[in-house]
Amino acid sequence: MAADTFVTRLNEQIGHEFAAHQQYVAIAVHYDAETLPQLARFFYRQALEERDHAMMMVQYLIDADADVVIPGVSAPRPAFDDIVAPVALALDQERRVTEQIHALAATAREAGDYTSEQFMQWFIKEQVEEVATMSDLLRVVQRSKDDPMEIENFMAREFGSGEDDDPTAPHAAGAE
Ligand SMILES: [Fe+2]
Ligand SMILES: [Fe+2]
Repeated sequence: MAADTFVTRLNEQIGHEFAAHQQYVAIAVHYDAETLPQLARFFYRQALEERDHAMMMVQYLIDADADVVIPGVSAPRPAFDDIVAPVALALDQERRVTEQIHALAATAREAGDYTSEQFMQWFIKEQVEEVATMSDLLRVVQRSKDDPMEIENFMAREFGSGEDDDPTAPHAAGAE
């Protein structure tokens, strides 16, 4: 059985993941409106990944026979001054989520809930990748902020084909 303290905090994390989803959709829409389709596509895709994270956590709680309460989320930031600001915000968000994920693993461990601690391992690895990707992207947009087409070409080159499915990922509720 999952520890009560862990269940409470994982329910909160579901809210953080959905909030990240909403923020990335808002960023994608911003870039779409600026006619930067490759940046838009990248963030639409990131948004879907955040939704998947939330639904993996939902599935875990269902499997653990624990209460799941789908929370509301606060509104994302909708407007940005330049091409760099959304990526800087995204990097901040990924760093914050990394701390939240580590705290979740610590909560599970302190409660002697090693199953839940192990569940968090995939998210720890995922956050390393997401922070690295967003740091790289921030460097690129800062370097080429006066030449958006250079950024678009980079996005098409580096992220054009999307990511491969990760067979080690936990099952997301409702996924095929
Ligand atoms: Fe996430
Ligand atoms: Fe993320």
